[in-house]
Amino acid sequence: MKAAHLSTHPDYNPAAPVLQLKNVTMRFGGVTAIDGLNLTVPPKKIVGLIGPNGAGKTTVFNVITGFYTPTEGEVIFEEAPVVGVSPQKICALGIARTFQNIRLFAQGTVLDNVMVGCHVRRKCQWWMAPLCLPGFFREEKAIREKSMDLLNRLGLAHLARENAASLPYGAQRRLEIARALATDPTFLLLDEPAAGMNPQESGELMRFIEEIRDEFDLTILMIEHDMKVVMGVCSHIWVLEYGRLIAEGGPEGIRSNPKVITAYLGQEAVGK
Ligand SMILES: Nc1ncnc2c1ncn2[C@@H]1O[C@H](COP(=O)(O)OP(=O)(O)OP(=O)(O)O)[C@@H](O)[C@H]1O
Ligand SMILES: [Mg+2]
Repeated sequence: MKAAHLSTHPDYNPAAPVLQLKNVTMRFGGVTAIDGLNLTVPPKKIVGLIGPNGAGKTTVFNVITGFYTPTEGEVIFEEAPVVGVSPQKICALGIARTFQNIRLFAQGTVLDNVMVGCHVRRKCQWWMAPLCLPGFFREEKAIREKSMDLLNRLGLAHLARENAASLPYGAQRRLEIARALATDPTFLLLDEPAAGMNPQESGELMRFIEEIRDEFDLTILMIEHDMKVVMGVCSHIWVLEYGRLIAEGGPEGIRSNPKVITAYLGQEAVGK
């Protein structure tokens, strides 16, 4: 099931790259968080962005999703430039994300949190509610049904009425992904989805990520420090250090790349 989404380009070729960063630089005063980054994400793959703390990974996500406007360079999503487009519009174009520090509406239920994601595609606006316009309530009902359906498909339906903050950590991460999926993305960005998980949870997460890629027909770019997860699910990996790309390639090439070992992995991690 794929909901219609507003394509950025009417003639977008599905075999073309989903995303291209061309010479992207992001400076904050004297800090260069991203330095001349070029990156091309192929469609329907799970790919990874890794690097030491402070390398600029989350900043890359903030640039892609319109939270930051890059100092220089181009961001092309489905063949259309998106620099200067608002985060809401970029989300409506089909890019969804999760956050490094989980951001759920803690007071809301699991269902409320997913319904918020659906509101990106709402046609009737909130001001119609007091006027009791029937379209508003019809759409609210449809959003509720769609959200329940999504929770069902993600194995979270039994938690629908629970308070989001009361869920175990792993389920909160899943719920954040569910909320991102509620926006009907074609491109999903996950910022450290396995952070804080034990090996069993991260193993389940790997299967979950592969399942949603297939079921929702997604391209997924993930930032992750857990090398088992990255090497286990990503077909292509980019490595950042001080905002610069120091390596890219498949898991085997990255694991044995001397630059990556020195900068990031360390002999111990590579020996795993
Ligand atoms: N809004 C901002 N203002 C100033 N500096 C920033 C801002 N956002 C990020 N930075 C700086 O940019 C650099 C890259 O930060 P970023 O959060 O992208 O790193 P990261 O690779 O995600 O690190 P981590 O693995 O710790 O999450 C850091 O030096 C950070 O302090
Ligand atoms: Mg980060």
